[in-house]
Amino acid sequence: MTNNQKVKISPSILSADFTRLGEQVAEVTRAGADYIHIDVMDGHFAPQITIGPPVVTAIRKCTNLPLDLHLMIESPENQINQFANAGANLITVHIETCQHLHRVIQMIKDKGIKAGVSVNPATPISLLDEILPEVDMVVVMTVNPGFSGQIFIESTLGKIARLRAELDKRDLNAELEVDGGINEKTASLVVKAGGRVLVAGSAVFNTRESIGDAIKRLRESLV
Ligand code: DX5
Ligand code: ZN
Repeated sequence: MTNNQKVKISPSILSADFTRLGEQVAEVTRAGADYIHIDVMDGHFAPQITIGPPVVTAIRKCTNLPLDLHLMIESPENQINQFANAGANLITVHIETCQHLHRVIQMIKDKGIKAGVSVNPATPISLLDEILPEVDMVVVMTVNPGFSGQIFIESTLGKIARLRAELDKRDLNAELEVDGGINEKTASLVVKAGGRVLVAGSAVFNTRESIGDAIKRLRESLV
């Protein structure tokens, strides 16, 4: 099996045209995306305020793909119920925002959905040691949370490789998602390092090409 076949793509709708959000979600679905990545920011942990549960409810009606929610918010434990009820299939929280990470992961799982944990570029993966067996996904940020279209931070590649080795060594099945600055140049570096789910915002939603062509180009860059 080639890397191309194993790798999943999770388009980040933060880069979508919000005046046509439903159409764009339907278009990435038709184009063969594996997840829909939804970036939730609160203006505190991450500088922008983006998307809340009512928009997730609307997106839920436009696709059958799993909704991959990335909560970049303080006190995420207060929002789990609302986002799960809005139709999330997977909720990822940041380790930097959780005083009681194990409890928050448990809260997510108790809603009958998958749970993920994310680390910022400056956060060491050693902090994940104890929680790895409990999570369905680990998200390595390759930009600082906040915006689409930022430049990929290359020094995170070593971290991805070490995390891949750790997951394999301990025979853990958590998916390794990589988020930020993914394009046709960086995608193959990330996959070589061990990333298996690629979040892509500006590489998928842009004015240069159709969404279908953009996803195809990203996949072809992995061959
Ligand atoms: C950044 C978000 C990312 C972002 C990705 O805080 O978590 O998901 O939207 O956008 P690109 O792929 O353009 O870096
Ligand atoms: Zn994200």
